[in-house]
Amino acid sequence: MAGTKPPPSKDDLDLKVTRRAFLKTAGVGAVATGVVGVAVAPQPGTGGVLGPGVVALTLHVNGAARKISVEPRVTLLDALRDTIGLTGAKPGCDRGACGACTVLLDGEPVVSCMMLAADAEGRKITTVEGLGTPEAMSPLQAAFVECDALQCGFCTPGFVVAGTALLKRNPDPSLPEIKEALSGNLCRCGTYGRIFEAVTKAAKAQRPVPAKRG
Ligand code: FES
Ligand code: FES
Repeated sequence: MAGTKPPPSKDDLDLKVTRRAFLKTAGVGAVATGVVGVAVAPQPGTGGVLGPGVVALTLHVNGAARKISVEPRVTLLDALRDTIGLTGAKPGCDRGACGACTVLLDGEPVVSCMMLAADAEGRKITTVEGLGTPEAMSPLQAAFVECDALQCGFCTPGFVVAGTALLKRNPDPSLPEIKEALSGNLCRCGTYGRIFEAVTKAAKAQRPVPAKRG
């Protein structure tokens, strides 16, 4: 019959992970995800009950304490973007699959769409805005510009944040190591070659120059 849709397959149902389902899961433990290179933030699970109304939180973002009032269901990504006004982390898939929302949590890359803002209290959060400014870019931000490593730019903050974490733990990564570390980040424009080049270039720029002999 025209207009009648077939019943959803099991795969369709599996894909329909709703925000409600995620929030229920996030409240009781870890959330499984297909993302390889970027972690889903661990849930501290304090056991306390928050809400359902707005709660006062203090988030430590880019070196500053930010006091906010949000409902406990609000994700870290939404709190950063809609309440604090830091829009560098991007809402791509909202289900932990694309890495566009990547931020650093105590120095480790996490997908902020898969973490509640309330669970980020007491942690050190760094967004792409905290890595550098247009006037004083970080070595990796500068390398992205020099290598022209973006097209639409939507994925770029996530790649820069994940790449920054990589260079901190491994200042001289091989190409396979770069690919592995960034495998949780997707670029729909397909700019991967230049992104990998930018990370390689930043690694080189950060390496100390060997002292001259004699
Ligand atoms: S928006 Fe968070 S992983 Fe895609
Ligand atoms: S530059 Fe467009 S999605 Fe990566």
